[in-house]
Amino acid sequence: MSAETPAPQKIGPPATAQKLIWVPKAAEIAREAGARLREFLAQGVETEYKGDVDLVTVADRTVEKLIRGRLGEAFPAHGIYGEEGTRERMEGEYRWYVDPLDGTTNFAHGFPQFCVSMGLEQRPAGLEPDQDGTLVAAVVYDPTRDELYTAERGQGATLNGRPMRVSRIPVLAEALLSTGFPSRKRHQSPNVHFYQEFTLRSHGVRRAGSAALDLAYVAAGRLEAFWEFNLNPWDTAAGILLVEEAGGSVTDFAGNPFKLDSREILASNGLIQAELVALFTNMFAGRGLSPIPTPQEFARRRAAAGR
Ligand code: IPD
Ligand code: CA
Ligand code: CA
Repeated sequence: MSAETPAPQKIGPPATAQKLIWVPKAAEIAREAGARLREFLAQGVETEYKGDVDLVTVADRTVEKLIRGRLGEAFPAHGIYGEEGTRERMEGEYRWYVDPLDGTTNFAHGFPQFCVSMGLEQRPAGLEPDQDGTLVAAVVYDPTRDELYTAERGQGATLNGRPMRVSRIPVLAEALLSTGFPSRKRHQSPNVHFYQEFTLRSHGVRRAGSAALDLAYVAAGRLEAFWEFNLNPWDTAAGILLVEEAGGSVTDFAGNPFKLDSREILASNGLIQAELVALFTNMFAGRGLSPIPTPQEFARRRAAAGR
């Protein structure tokens, strides 16, 4: 960190009395779901393929069923839209976007970076199906670290009950970033180019394998930014509200307001959002790309150097 950059103040004192409507119950459900994931992790689970390298396990399905049942008991009028197929009460005013296990590939390999993600959208009557409502509550739970990230709109975001804020790093050159790569149609993704450019211009880019936790880490000030192509609302709904309530920004790659069915997400501490958008714009226009040596070029140079 440079001398001019103030040290990030990430976690504050315990939250003062908040009037949380949905988070207390949702947090209880996420903790129960996370405990089930820990049990499955300890016993080991078989992996199935939904597609190419898109993995699913009995843990994904069992935990979605558990969350569906518990949310139905706690909020009988609320809709639920889950990754493993749940579509309930989709015409209601409230809708939970549920990823019972975000980071399935990590989970299947015993790599401890995965979470439960639940985001609540309020959809006023008359909204068209393709229009967004307002994200009003978020819970992300990391069962291996026992870290619970929560937010309700207008009331800030917390990590294990303490207020959390995005970092104050003001420039990309001093930022730590994160991204992810799709598990479907991998060969069509251009993201490796963005990975390269952002790596060269920052402290580094992590690929930890759970988009919901990546967003939670931006909210907690552990990362300055996160981007990815082709995520789904169950991956992003909770994390977006966490970032916004922690003081950060979420847009598409052009800096436009993010929409839940958007194919691109760019989240940051807000301070470096414009710099990131400018880089995306330049890269999509083919400007400022740094050439990477091909393996053949590298091999020729290596041979010429006698190594
Ligand atoms: C995946 C994770 C990963 C991201 C993938 C997602 P899943 O979700 O969030 O980090 O790169 O695009 O599909 O399949 O583990 O729930
Ligand atoms: Ca996911
Ligand atoms: Ca999942």
